Amino acid sequence: IMLPVILLLVGLSGLTLPVQAAPVCKRVKLLRNNSANVLKGFSLTLTNICTLIMFNTSVEVCDPNPCQNNGVCEVLESGGFKCICKEPYIGKKCQDERNVCKKVKCGHGDCVRTQEAPFYECKCRPPYRAPTCKKASACDPSPCLNGGKCVKGRTRASFTCKCAENYSGRFCQVGPNDCYEGNGESYIGFVSQTVEEMECLPWNYYRIPFKEFEGNESIGAHNYCRNPDGDREPWCFVNDKGNLRWDYCNVKPCSEPGTDFPSTFSLLYKCKNRNICSSVCSIKPSTAPAKLQFSDCGKTQASMIAPRIFGGRKSLPAAHPWQVSFQVRSKGSNGSFSHNCGGTLIDSCWVLTAAHCIDENEEVSVEMGGVNLEKDDPAKQFLEVEKIIVHENYTETPEALYNDIALLKLKAINGRCANETRSVRAACLPTDSFPDETMCTISGYGTTEKEYAVSPQLLDAKVLLISQKRCMSRNVYGNRLDDSMMCAGYMQGKTDSCQGDSGGPLVCQKAETHYIYGVVSWGDSCGKKNRPGIYARVTKFIDWINEKMRAA
Ligand SMILES: *[C@@H]1O[C@H](CO)[C@@H](O)[C@H](O)[C@H]1NC(C)=O
Ligand SMILES: *[C@@H]1O[C@H](CO)[C@@H](O)[C@H](O)[C@H]1NC(C)=O
Ligand SMILES: *[C@@H]1O[C@H](CO)[C@@H](O)[C@H](O)[C@H]1NC(C)=O
Ligand SMILES: *[C@@H]1O[C@H](CO)[C@@H](O)[C@H](O)[C@H]1NC(C)=O
Ligand SMILES: *[C@@H]1O[C@H](CO)[C@@H](O)[C@H](O)[C@H]1NC(C)=O
Ligand SMILES: *[C@@H]1O[C@H](CO)[C@@H](O)[C@H](O)[C@H]1NC(C)=O
Ligand SMILES: *[C@@H]1O[C@H](CO)[C@@H](O)[C@H](O)[C@H]1NC(C)=O
Repeated sequence: IMLPVILLLVGLSGLTLPVQAAPVCKRVKLLRNNSANVLKGFSLTLTNICTLIMFNTSVEVCDPNPCQNNGVCEVLESGGFKCICKEPYIGKKCQDERNVCKKVKCGHGDCVRTQEAPFYECKCRPPYRAPTCKKASACDPSPCLNGGKCVKGRTRASFTCKCAENYSGRFCQVGPNDCYEGNGESYIGFVSQTVEEMECLPWNYYRIPFKEFEGNESIGAHNYCRNPDGDREPWCFVNDKGNLRWDYCNVKPCSEPGTDFPSTFSLLYKCKNRNICSSVCSIKPSTAPAKLQFSDCGKTQASMIAPRIFGGRKSLPAAHPWQVSFQVRSKGSNGSFSHNCGGTLIDSCWVLTAAHCIDENEEVSVEMGGVNLEKDDPAKQFLEVEKIIVHENYTETPEALYNDIALLKLKAINGRCANETRSVRAACLPTDSFPDETMCTISGYGTTEKEYAVSPQLLDAKVLLISQKRCMSRNVYGNRLDDSMMCAGYMQGKTDSCQGDSGGPLVCQKAETHYIYGVVSWGDSCGKKNRPGIYARVTKFIDWINEKMRAA
C-alpha cells in the first residue's frame, strides 16, 4: 500500500524545477491604460500597486538563520539544518526556553530569570529572607524607604510602613513626583501596584515572556510599572491565583492625560481580557463565524515533498489551491480580462483581496486552480464576481494604506461558486496569532524588474513574520504602521524579501493546515534594508469578514 506514495515522492523530488533569473527587486507602478495594463517604472511612493515578487533561488537553509536566541545553524548533508542552542534555550529552532524554575520552590518569593547559570534565583518578598524565602523577620532590617517607619504586625511576617509625608506605596518607595508623562513610555518611577492593588511581578519572573522586553533599559529585575509596548499607560504582570495576567497600574499622570494617544494594540502576550498567553492570543470571533460551503480549508495535496527553503520558486500544481488571480478589464469593453492582483479563496463564493486592487471603472473576474496564467488547464475554474465589498475604513494616504482589505463575492451557478477540487480549495481564517519569526509563505503571479510584465507562472517565497514593535521602531516604519497592518520579510533587505502580488496571500501553517494571515498590501521600495513588506493583518478583520459573508 505504501509503494505508490514512495514512488510519487521519489518522482517529484527528482524533478529539477527551472530556476528563475535573479533580478534586483523593485516596486513597479501598475498604470491602467484603457484595457492594457502598463507597468511603468518604479517609485517609492506608497500609492503604487506593487506586483513584484522575488526570485533568488540560492538562499541557503541557514540564511536567514532559522535558529532563534543566538542559536548557531548548521547545514546538514541532507539539505536540512540543525540548530545548536545556547542555554537555556531548546527546541528545533531554539525557540523554547527550558523552564529553569520547574523544580524550584521559592517559598514566599518568585523564581526569576538571571543571565548566568543556573539562569534563575529566588527573589523573596519582604520580610522573607534568602535563600529559601521561608524565614521571615518583619522590620529587621526595615524594608521601608524614604524615612518610612516599619511597624510590626501581629504575626512574625506582618508589618506596615508608615511613610513620611508625600510618600506612598507598600515600602514608601513612591515619591511625590512619581507620575507619568504622555502614555508613560518614559516612566521610570516606583509604583508597583495595579489599579486593583495587586502587587506587580518582577519583569524577570520566569513565566513572563521576557525576551520581548530584552534590551530595554527600563525593564529589568524589578517589579515597577512600565509601558514598554506603547500601551496607553504603565502596566505590569500579576499573579492572579496562579494565573499570569496583566493590568494597568495606579500611577498618576503628571498632567491631565491627553486623549490623542494612538489606541493601544499590544498584540503580543497581552490579550484584551487581561490574560496572558505564552505567545499566542486566541482570536475568538465576537460574532458567530459564517457557515462555510466547502467541507474543509487550509489543506493541500501537493506538499508531499519538502522543498528546500529558498526565495521565489515556481509553485508545484495544487501547492496553493487558494491562490486566485483577480482579473480586470475596463467597464463596457469586450476585451479579455488580464491579471490585476492576487486573492485568496476563503470559501466557495468568497475571495479575500486588497482594497487598493479595486477600481470602480473596471469589470472583474477571477481565475483559480492553475499555476500558469497562459496555459489551458482542465483544473482551472473561471468565475464572475457578483459583488465587491471594500472595507469601510480603507484609506490611502501618501504614508500608508490603512485597512487595505476587500472581499469579492463570486457569482453562483446553481447555488455553487468554486468547486472544491485538488487544485481549488479554501485557506482557513486564523484562530490564533502566530509567533514572530514564524516562517510563512507568500505566493502570486509576480513581475520581475527586467520584464515589467506579469509572470504567467505562479511563484512563491518564504517570509518571516516580524514583530510589530520592531516594525514600528523609528528606523523602520515608525508610526506609519497601525494595527490593521503587519510586517513580514527580512530586515536585512535581501532581494528575496519583496512583496508578492498585491492582494495575494501570506499563509502560515500549523499542523498541516494553512491559515490566511496577511494580504499583500504595500511597502517602501523593495529589498531595501529595514523596509520589509507590509500586509493587511487578517486577524484584525475576522469579525468584519464573517459579518460580510453572513450578511451577503
Ligand atoms: C496609453 O497607451 C498608449 C499606447 O501605448 C499611449 O499612446 C498613451 O499615451 C497611453 N495613455 C496614457 C494615459 O498613459
Ligand atoms: C542571492 O542570494 C545569495 C545568498 O544569499 C547572494 O549571495 C546573492 O548575491 C543573491 N543574488 C542576488 C542577485 O541578489
Ligand atoms: C507635600 O506636598 C504638598 C503639596 O504638594 C506640599 O505643600 C508639602 O510641602 C509637601 N511636604 C513635604 C514634606 O515635602
Ligand atoms: C524601551 O521602552 C520604552 C518605553 O518604556 C520605549 O520607548 C523604547 O523604544 C524601548 N527601547 C527598546 C530598545 O526597545
Ligand atoms: C468589440 O465589439 C465590437 C462590436 O460589439 C467589435 O466591433 C469589436 O471588434 C470588438 N472588439 C474586440 C476586441 O473583440
Ligand atoms: C462546478 O461543477 C459543476 C458540475 O460539474 C459545473 O457545472 C460547473 O461549471 C463547475 N464550476 C466551475 C466554476 O468550474
Ligand atoms: C471605522 O472607523 C470608525 C471610527 O474609528 C469605527 O467606529 C468603525 O467601527 C470602523 N468600521 C469598521 C468596519 O471597522
